[in-house]
Parts: sequence; C-alpha cells; structure tokens
Amino acid sequence: MKIYHIFALFASFGCSSCVVDKMEKLAPRPTPAMSATSGVSLTKLENGRTVFLANCGRCHEHQFPDTVSRADWHLVVPGMSWNAGVSKGDQQALLAYLLAAKAKK
Ligand code: HEC
Repeated sequence: MKIYHIFALFASFGCSSCVVDKMEKLAPRPTPAMSATSGVSLTKLENGRTVFLANCGRCHEHQFPDTVSRADWHLVVPGMSWNAGVSKGDQQALLAYLLAAKAKK
C-alpha cells in the first residue's frame, strides 16, 4: 500500500465521524415523541430514515428535513424515489420520516 493510500484511509475515517455528527443533528433519529405526534409507527420512521441516509445523498448532498417545505417534500419525494430506485413502501416511509423529522415551526 502506498503512503498516500494510508493518508486517504485516515482522512476518510476522520471525516466519517463528523458526517455522523452532522447526520444526527440534521436527520434526527426517530423518537417515540416524533412517532406520537406524526401518528406513524417508530419502525416506519426508522425505515424512512434508513432509506434517506442510504439513497438521498448519492447524486447530490443530502437535502435535510428542515431545508424543504412540507408541500415541496410531497412534490419532490416521488420523483427522487424513482431516481433512487426506492420501492413504493420505502417511499411512503421516507416521506413520513421527512415530515415527522421537521422541527415544529
Ligand atoms: C439518481 C440521482 C438522484 C438521487 C438518487 C436522488 N436525487 Fe434528488 N435530485 C437529483 C437531481 C438531478 C436534482 C436536480 C434536478 C431536479 O430537481 O430534478 C435533484 C434535486 C433534489 C431536490 C431539490 C428539488 C428542487 O426542485 O429544488 C431535493 C429536495 C432532492 N433532490 C431530494 C432527494 C431525496 C429526498 C432523495 C432520496 C430519495 C434524492 N433526492 C435522491 C438527483 C437525484
């Protein structure tokens, strides 16, 4: 292994922890309170978050729950799910998560 490969490895480890912190803040983990307020099961919200993390930052930076309005999420999610090859069930979970995770404003 050449030395710059080792540097690249360290750089990616260093960065993965800051990405995780950012994700925890901007794409909050579903909570029982979030489930109660949205009327969506915790399992479904968790599935939606997993779909979001895995698929929605592949072509562009993640667009986080709070950065897009509720109305726009309804419009954008079907097309983006199609882009990402996400199933209908996962698409529903994704939309439910994005709406539930928005801060109350
Ligand atoms: C295959 C590539 C691809 C994937 C995967 C993808 N997107 Fe996108 N996304 C795009 C492109 C290209 C644009 C800009 C053009 C457009 O609006 O269609 C975009 C734009 C957006 C926008 C801005 C829309 C607007 O009109 O301003 C949002 C929000 C978004 N994506 C959310 C998501 C979410 C949520 C997912 C996960 C399901 C996702 N994207 C997955 C390609 C992708």
